[in-house]
Amino acid sequence: MTHLPISLSVNGERVDAHVLPRLNLADFLREKLQLTGTHVGCEHGVCGACTVRVNGEIVRSCLMLAVQTQGASVETIEGLSDSGEIADLQAAFRDRNALQCGFCTPAMLMAAQDLLKQEAEPDRERIREHLSGNYCRCTGYHAIVDAIESVAEARAGGRR
Ligand code: FES
Ligand code: FES
Repeated sequence: MTHLPISLSVNGERVDAHVLPRLNLADFLREKLQLTGTHVGCEHGVCGACTVRVNGEIVRSCLMLAVQTQGASVETIEGLSDSGEIADLQAAFRDRNALQCGFCTPAMLMAAQDLLKQEAEPDRERIREHLSGNYCRCTGYHAIVDAIESVAEARAGGRR
């Protein structure tokens, strides 16, 4: 089958590649670029484990084809982590035991950061609502909500 050329930005670096038209973005990131912090759970858009940012919006990378990212800016958990953008969220997750196996954690962090960029002080119900597309089999979500709530309060305090 014919490979198609794509050029995009991944975590701020230009990437040029040739990909099969059916290759999804999650597999492209994991297998071609070794960015394995993007996890694949269901491959059907249900679990949220494959969440990344494309042009600033969070998307499920198992539902997007790599060729659809032509010219786009893609950010993964590795990029957010290296830039320090989510350092406070990472620390809060660790401090509050908001992860066990960690499979859902990169995507949870991406989703949490997405919410906190949109809303300064979401309440617990709003946090749960925003995370409703991100499944966690281990934690029961309570500690995750605690961690995000604490970061929201700290960031809001810093803005006052
Ligand atoms: S692997 Fe993409 S939503 Fe589950
Ligand atoms: S910590 Fe295991 S799935 Fe969330």
